[in-house]
Amino acid sequence: MVLSVENLTVVSSQGKRTFPVVEDLSLSIGRGGTLALVGESGCGKTVSALSIMGLLPPGFSIASGSITLGGEKISSLPKSKLRGLRGRRMSMIFQEPMTALNPVMAIGKQVAEVLKSHRICPPGQIKGRVVDLLAEVGLPDPERQYWAYPHEFSGGMRQRVMCVMALAASPDLIIADEPTTALDATVQAQILDLLRDLQAKRGLAILLITHNLLAASLLADRVAVLYAGRKVEEGPTDEVLTNPLHPYARGLMDSQPKLTLGQGGTQGMARRLKIIAGQVPPPSQRQGGCHFHGRCEASTDKCQKEIPTLIARSGGHSVACFGAEEGGKA
Ligand SMILES: Nc1ncnc2c1ncn2[C@@H]1O[C@H](COP(=O)(O)OP(=O)(O)O)[C@@H](O)[C@H]1O
Ligand SMILES: [Mg+2]
Repeated sequence: MVLSVENLTVVSSQGKRTFPVVEDLSLSIGRGGTLALVGESGCGKTVSALSIMGLLPPGFSIASGSITLGGEKISSLPKSKLRGLRGRRMSMIFQEPMTALNPVMAIGKQVAEVLKSHRICPPGQIKGRVVDLLAEVGLPDPERQYWAYPHEFSGGMRQRVMCVMALAASPDLIIADEPTTALDATVQAQILDLLRDLQAKRGLAILLITHNLLAASLLADRVAVLYAGRKVEEGPTDEVLTNPLHPYARGLMDSQPKLTLGQGGTQGMARRLKIIAGQVPPPSQRQGGCHFHGRCEASTDKCQKEIPTLIARSGGHSVACFGAEEGGKA
């Protein structure tokens, strides 16, 4: 496995109180594999990603569990060691590339900095390597784009540059956190295509974080559904998207346009979509039992009191729901 996350619990502290934000999360991704982590905003997707990268914000910490990258346990490494791994062994692409790019430095120079800091190639070859990388992600006229500034680029082109920066030091794992959310539909598809091509060429492992199930279906071979910090379902992409077992996963599927891109059809469809009533409880307001029980139509007393564990079903599909346990759906 390139990445193994085992029983990870991440807590946030506010004054004397501590709340679990991510609970007992286990994930793994092999070489060339893509796992999509899906769930509504506030479910803990970004916090999970940041804990893997060793970039948790102040007030957050790993309370238990382990993170292993290429066989090396990284969850207990000191910050200085983790810094050395970022870029070279794992890197992250964020939703808004403008905030990750330096506005006053030419694009090519910024990529060159990544190569320099990881001593990827001899100084005399850096410029040529950057131009090759810009060409690899499909930027036209890369010799000229080397000298362009971020504001001269469209959102899609900036995200291509972020892909270059993430890939420059040839990591084994890329975490893409909502990489296309800020882009329009056509450009979204182009960036997902790009990630897929790069993955095929380089055998990358990708953790794709998205609330867009279409993006998950285009790129991921497996999907894990996160609800209020807990994984409630995981399985092969087709299985989870067409036969979701958890009531929350079903709600997510029903609340999204059908899995075809744009072409003017999505607006009309969006109006007919069902939404899941209620909201994801923030970490400080999560109670016992299944976190979804307050929004679940099939909830029983047991759901309020006990935490359902993930149970394996056929075909590598697993679900944590009392209602889905007896072979059927909840
Ligand atoms: N920097 C932060 N400071 C305080 N709370 C945060 C911070 N980042 C995330 N949170 C809280 O942690 C929980 C999980 O957030 P997040 O991982 O960003 O969710 P997602 O990426 O699934 O939308 C949310 O309740 C959010 O409010
Ligand atoms: Mg997020």
